[in-house]
Amino acid sequence: MSIERTLIVIKPDAVRRGLVGEIISRFEKKGFKIRALKMLWMTREQAEEFYSVHRGKDFYEELVKFASSGPIVALIIEGDSAINVARQMIGVTDGRKAQPGTIRGDYSLSILENVIHASDSEESYMKEVKVIFTDTDIVPSY
Ligand code: CMP
Repeated sequence: MSIERTLIVIKPDAVRRGLVGEIISRFEKKGFKIRALKMLWMTREQAEEFYSVHRGKDFYEELVKFASSGPIVALIIEGDSAINVARQMIGVTDGRKAQPGTIRGDYSLSILENVIHASDSEESYMKEVKVIFTDTDIVPSY
C-alpha cells in the first residue's frame, strides 16, 4: 500500500459542459479522499507555468489559450497508488482513442479539449500543485 496524492484538473470544456459533479463523483466512488478543492480561472501566466513542460511544442499556444479560456475545478485527491490509478481512470490523452469507461473515453472527442488532467508522476504533481494550491488549502486527514 502506497498512499499518494495527485492533482486533478477538470478543464474549461468540462466545466462549460456541466460535467464537474459527474467527474468528481467518479473519484469519490472509487474511494479517493478529496484533500483540497478549488474553482479558479487560470491566468495566461498560470497556464504557461502549469504546462511549461510542453513549451516549444506545436500545440503549446493553443493549449495555453484553452487552459485559460474559462474556469477550471482543481482537486487534490489521496489514496492508494493515486497517481497511477487516476491516470488509468482518465484514459489516454486523445479522447478519440481513450477506452470507453474512462473519463476521456466517455466524454471527449478531442486531443486538446480532453476534459481532465491528472499528474503523470510525483515530480509532475509537486510542480503542478504549486501553480494552483498552497499548503493551507489542504485539509488534514479525515
Ligand atoms: P493533459 O493531460 O492536460 O497534458 C497536456 C495537454 O496538452 C493534454 O492533456 C491535451 O489537452 C494537450 N495536448 C497534448 N497533445 C496534443 C496535441 N497533439 N494537440 C493538441 N493538444 C494536445
